[in-house]
Amino acid sequence: MEDKSIEIKKDITNIFNKVSAVFDGSGPRYFTYFGERLVEFADVKEGERVLDVASGKGASLFSAAEKVGKSGVVTGIDIAEGMVNEIDLEMQRRGVKNVHAMVMDAEKLEFANQTFQHILCGFGVFFLPNYKVAFHEFMRVLKSGGRFSFTTFLRKKDEKFMWLNELFDKYLPVFEDELDEYQSEDIPEFDTEEGLYKILNQAGFKNIQVISEEKVFIYKDEQEWWDKLWTHGAISTLEKIPKDMLEDFKSEVFEKLREMKEAGGIPHTKSVLYAFGEKL
Ligand SMILES: C[S@@+](CC[C@H](N)C(=O)[O-])C[C@H]1O[C@@H](n2cnc3c(N)ncnc32)[C@H](O)[C@@H]1O
Repeated sequence: MEDKSIEIKKDITNIFNKVSAVFDGSGPRYFTYFGERLVEFADVKEGERVLDVASGKGASLFSAAEKVGKSGVVTGIDIAEGMVNEIDLEMQRRGVKNVHAMVMDAEKLEFANQTFQHILCGFGVFFLPNYKVAFHEFMRVLKSGGRFSFTTFLRKKDEKFMWLNELFDKYLPVFEDELDEYQSEDIPEFDTEEGLYKILNQAGFKNIQVISEEKVFIYKDEQEWWDKLWTHGAISTLEKIPKDMLEDFKSEVFEKLREMKEAGGIPHTKSVLYAFGEKL
């Protein structure tokens, strides 16, 4: 179990190190959009101390840094060194002084008890093999009255994109799903409102709220949509397609995208859940 979890984290680290330079850097920047919305919903205020877990390139981090101002501080942690390096570069570019970023595992936080008023985590919780350990850590490092706010993708997918799963099924070799086997005792429902209430409740959070949002993003053309697909976690699936079949897969994807293209471009709806819990 412990070994399996180490293996999963190694794979995740490799994936995000690979995409760190291009992550959310092209097409509609939806991670940035949802990251900034998360900070608004979390109600981060001037002077506060904020921890951004699984910070990526800082979709929430830089927005939180603006809110806390000079008298506050925002610390970003990510398991992928490439992401942390990207944050360092962006910090220099923006000249911000109230941000720190470091490589750290969300399940082993190296902070004292009761350090932060807020913990943020944009699209990170579903990567944690031992999420209960991580949530326990979040509770430990939050001050009393502190809030944990995070986003996940809603189970409901854009119906106009159902063909994508069918294409993946067609082109992916059949694997035994080891992750399902590993999690079979306790599969957390991070993709439903009920699931998030239950998870936060079991972790001891109070005053729980879950809000959903549907947002349409427009891609200018097929190439932009395709390029974006290679900039985030989806590459773990794409890389499983045998190399000699990738061109055929791409042609079928482009054909489907052309069918759904409108005058302004290709619309793609993202459905997201924002969840909040308080440590009393
Ligand atoms: C989809 S990205 C989201 C990044 C950012 N929060 C955003 O919204 O743009 C997920 C991030 O989680 C990080 N991550 C995954 N497992 C982690 C862990 N155990 N500890 C810390 N970070 C982790 C990945 O390296 C990646 O940067």
